[in-house]
Amino acid sequence: MKQEMMTIISQIKIAPKIFELILKGKLVKEMKTPGQFLHIKVPQADLLLRRPISLASIDQKKETCTVIYRVEGVGTESLSLLKKNDFLDVMGPLGNGFDTAFVKPNDRVFIIGGGIGVPPLYQLSKELKQRQAKVVHLLGFAKKEVIFYEEEFRALGETYYSTDDGSYGILGHAGNLLVKARKVGEPSAVYACGSNGLLKMVEQNFSTHPHAYLSLEARMACGMGACYACVCHLQKDETGTKSKKICDEGPVFPTGEVIL
Ligand SMILES: Cc1cc2nc3c(=O)[nH]c(=O)nc-3n(C[C@H](O)[C@H](O)[C@H](O)COP(=O)(O)OP(=O)(O)OC[C@H]3O[C@@H](n4cnc5c(N)ncnc54)[C@H](O)[C@@H]3O)c2cc1C
Ligand code: FES
Repeated sequence: MKQEMMTIISQIKIAPKIFELILKGKLVKEMKTPGQFLHIKVPQADLLLRRPISLASIDQKKETCTVIYRVEGVGTESLSLLKKNDFLDVMGPLGNGFDTAFVKPNDRVFIIGGGIGVPPLYQLSKELKQRQAKVVHLLGFAKKEVIFYEEEFRALGETYYSTDDGSYGILGHAGNLLVKARKVGEPSAVYACGSNGLLKMVEQNFSTHPHAYLSLEARMACGMGACYACVCHLQKDETGTKSKKICDEGPVFPTGEVIL
């Protein structure tokens, strides 16, 4: 994990309140695993804590990486005001990403995402495609207008959508898409990132699957395992005292391991 003042190559609004930010710098060489995140120092003096944002895409040749974020509060609002050629204080990459080493050509793999949990799944999908897996994307959003990267996901594999208001794809959440996809065939691997509700649904469906992974979120402070701001408790722990830190022992955990 290192730190750098990275250069902003571009920042564009890709949907209401959702921004795509491309950064350039030597730090990109360290970015190897989809699902890892950056800890970003928002350029506003009173905001001391860094903001964790997932890597959405990595381009080693161009020495660039992309993050996609939604404006939630003061930090992301301030980030959204930055322009091309501005500098950004970035620490990372942090956390353990998604394991793809076991995936073989023609494996049928489910990628399940919801809302602003979708960005890290894009780099993951690109890497699974390189491994010649058959990737099925099951993506849930609130409504049609907040969907982003549709063409990009469709270029990598089968892609199905659900929306809470039925304005695109099927009505409801990504769990409804999962029922349909499982009828076609069971997956060799499952990867999910999104709301707690979405992760619980995936946990229930694949709690004993040997290769099902969930990427968790938490409010973070240090991002490096020092402050214990981001702990989650473990399943199969009768004492209820054992925990793992989402920042450095996660954010990706296999199903059956942590309590959601
Ligand atoms: C490992 C990890 C990866 C993430 N990746 C992305 C990403 O790729 N794109 C993206 O848009 N967001 C991502 N997030 C969430 C992002 O970090 C928060 O939205 C951001 O820190 C909010 O900062 P803010 O200053 O704008 O909001 P604040 O002013 O600090 O808070 C505004 C509101 O957002 C809520 N909030 C803040 N942080 C979180 C959080 N971590 N989880 C849930 N709610 C939160 C607060 O409770 C509050 O209601 C990720 C979080 C984690 C832990
Ligand atoms: S944020 Fe400090 S230990 Fe995880």
